[in-house]
Amino acid sequence: MLLVYAPAARAEAVRAAALAVAGGATVAAAEPVVARNWPETWKEGLAPIVISSRLVVRPPFAAHALANGQREVVIEPRQAFGTGAHGSTALALALLDAHLATARAARVLDVGSGSGVLAIAALQLGAARATACDLDPIAARETRENAARNGVAARLAVFAGSLDALGPHAGRFEVVVANVITSELWPMLGELVQRVAPNGVAVFSGLLGAEREAVGAALARHALRVVDERRERDARGDEWLALIATR
Ligand SMILES: C[S@@+](CC[C@H](N)C(=O)[O-])C[C@H]1O[C@@H](n2cnc3c(N)ncnc32)[C@H](O)[C@@H]1O
Repeated sequence: MLLVYAPAARAEAVRAAALAVAGGATVAAAEPVVARNWPETWKEGLAPIVISSRLVVRPPFAAHALANGQREVVIEPRQAFGTGAHGSTALALALLDAHLATARAARVLDVGSGSGVLAIAALQLGAARATACDLDPIAARETRENAARNGVAARLAVFAGSLDALGPHAGRFEVVVANVITSELWPMLGELVQRVAPNGVAVFSGLLGAEREAVGAALARHALRVVDERRERDARGDEWLALIATR
């Protein structure tokens, strides 16, 4: 199929030209396209995402009236992954929220921070300090910018790089969260588990429902026990899975 956009005044001339070269193919009648502010239309699908009665994630241009006690994370949708709209992010946020509703976290580690949405949410939900890293320098930069936008920059340390760049002095964390697919998780799983404090938890997202058994077995080999899990199917039919595990 060939779609041609033309100024309305020239639509019939364009249609006649298409008929002349169509070689027997059907040429549909011209249809008007309603004039819209195209540079702004991408914003339409980005509404506030209500994770729970305690947490909302939204872009700066979508207002949300916060309920009593509800906190928000404002993320500028740019290049880094993590507007909150993807199931893997929303599931990780839901598990973080449920955990931090009852547990204190002095330190949170977010591996693969993207936009920084998970680390910033943890800070908004009561964590004292967080460290975030991402292999992608653009993501690290956007994590910093979003931290400033949310007023938590002073409590969030960000670096571009992998977990092994964290020296021994960085110690362990009450909450470690990683929203990465399993092919990215496996090479760093041992190191990531080493960063979980003795009484801490690890949140894994970006997993597929079909990987539940393999992930559960791998965590068990690292002496981690799954205590809660959430699933969500996306519009393409993929089932996303997130887990929270303790030692
Ligand atoms: C699916 S995105 C998650 C972004 C955000 N945390 C969220 O939950 O929406 C995964 C991010 O992990 C980063 N990443 C992948 N492997 C990594 C690794 N080994 N170390 C650090 N970051 C990694 C990618 O660059 C990407 O930004």
